[in-house]
Amino acid sequence: MMKMEKWLLIGSGGREYAMAQSLAKNVNREVFVAPGNPMMNVIDRVQTLDIEELDFDVLIEFALDNQIDWTVIGPEKPLSDGIVDRFTNAGLKVFGPNKEAAQLESSKEFAKEVMKSAGVPTAAYATFSNYDESIKYLEEHDFPVVVKLNGLAAGKGVFIIKDLAEAKETLSSIYDNNVHQEILIEEYLEGQEFSMIVMVNGLDIITMPLAQDHKRIYDGDKGPNTGGMGAYSPLPQFRDNVLNEGLVKVIRPVLDEMHKRGILFQGFLYAGLILTKDGVKVIEFNVRMGDPETQVILPQLQGDLGDVIVKLMNHQEQNVDWQTDRYFLGNVLAAKGYPGNHKNGLTLPQFSDDKLAVVYAGVEEQDEQLVSYGGRIMMVITSNKDLKKAQKLVNQAIADNVNTNDYSYRTDIGDKAFR
Ligand code: AMP
Ligand code: GLY
Repeated sequence: MMKMEKWLLIGSGGREYAMAQSLAKNVNREVFVAPGNPMMNVIDRVQTLDIEELDFDVLIEFALDNQIDWTVIGPEKPLSDGIVDRFTNAGLKVFGPNKEAAQLESSKEFAKEVMKSAGVPTAAYATFSNYDESIKYLEEHDFPVVVKLNGLAAGKGVFIIKDLAEAKETLSSIYDNNVHQEILIEEYLEGQEFSMIVMVNGLDIITMPLAQDHKRIYDGDKGPNTGGMGAYSPLPQFRDNVLNEGLVKVIRPVLDEMHKRGILFQGFLYAGLILTKDGVKVIEFNVRMGDPETQVILPQLQGDLGDVIVKLMNHQEQNVDWQTDRYFLGNVLAAKGYPGNHKNGLTLPQFSDDKLAVVYAGVEEQDEQLVSYGGRIMMVITSNKDLKKAQKLVNQAIADNVNTNDYSYRTDIGDKAFR
């Protein structure tokens, strides 16, 4: 009998549900998720823990007491707060970037500066920290422009601004809120956005299939930004040369630059890219997997995610294969009103078609019943050789089973592939 491996996963959303599912495919592995969500306990060999993701002392104590072999971090906040530094100092093995490396996501200014040194294509920008100077700059600038708050903003710190009047309004409200707010004013880029996620140990890279998120709440990319309302992968409109361009022009130069600065990057690196008429450019970096991209990427892995991580961290040679003959597509069901005010405690829709996979994110137990808790509640996913059929199947299942008084969702996930 082989000894059971023990893995700890930090986080609680749909991304972590998909990661737990992927890690627990190996029958010789137990996966603990802190804090997780109640539906994760239904997955074989997965167990949630009542420990918050920022409670580093208790997480470390648990990992030491239970001889955890490896820890993987899902969300950005523990990473930018230095969870990896803390685990490493405690002698624990962990897959994720340390605090310094995590600045690629936590500081937009740091990311821009690294890109500049590395010659990586991205939007031109300038930084400001007061109202008057930013307006003075914009008075002599063409529109549209993009205004971004520096620091983690969970997708809510980005404003696309069409004229000076709108700029004045937005900047007043930003500076009313915080007189010293650091902002970036960026050139507006036009093109199709997509996500390129790789696994990294220093200069060693493993690529994953490209995916496309849908960040706005309404169909046609209308309405406010959300955490992400649906995704599909791979992307039939882009050939391998787009992935290769991302690798050569973005991922490798950034990792070379980090290496030159003596900053070791380990973990997932997510490049939010846009294909402009001048080629691929960077919108942002994240130092973790994407949510909802993970939910349509990981099911494509042919092999064991844990094994891939361990070999990568040991610099062992490996071939990592991903399926190539089907498309994975999923829609997020959000509590009505999200990303604004919304209710908790909604009844969860049920799906019985075995062509569908349901990934749970915002759920909690209330009086021995599972109900919604939070904005993005669950994701309904299928795979098909035909992307259009995948989209139709998911949309139909949602139309048949979801109460639109309680939930909102998009119906155009995947449409950009058909243009
Ligand atoms: P971010 O939080 O940086 O990912 O930005 C959120 C969204 O704003 C992106 O997914 C884009 O749709 C949009 N965005 C950000 N920066 C730019 C830019 N320079 N040009 C055009 N759109 C942008
Ligand atoms: N799907 C966008 C993100 O995870 O940041």
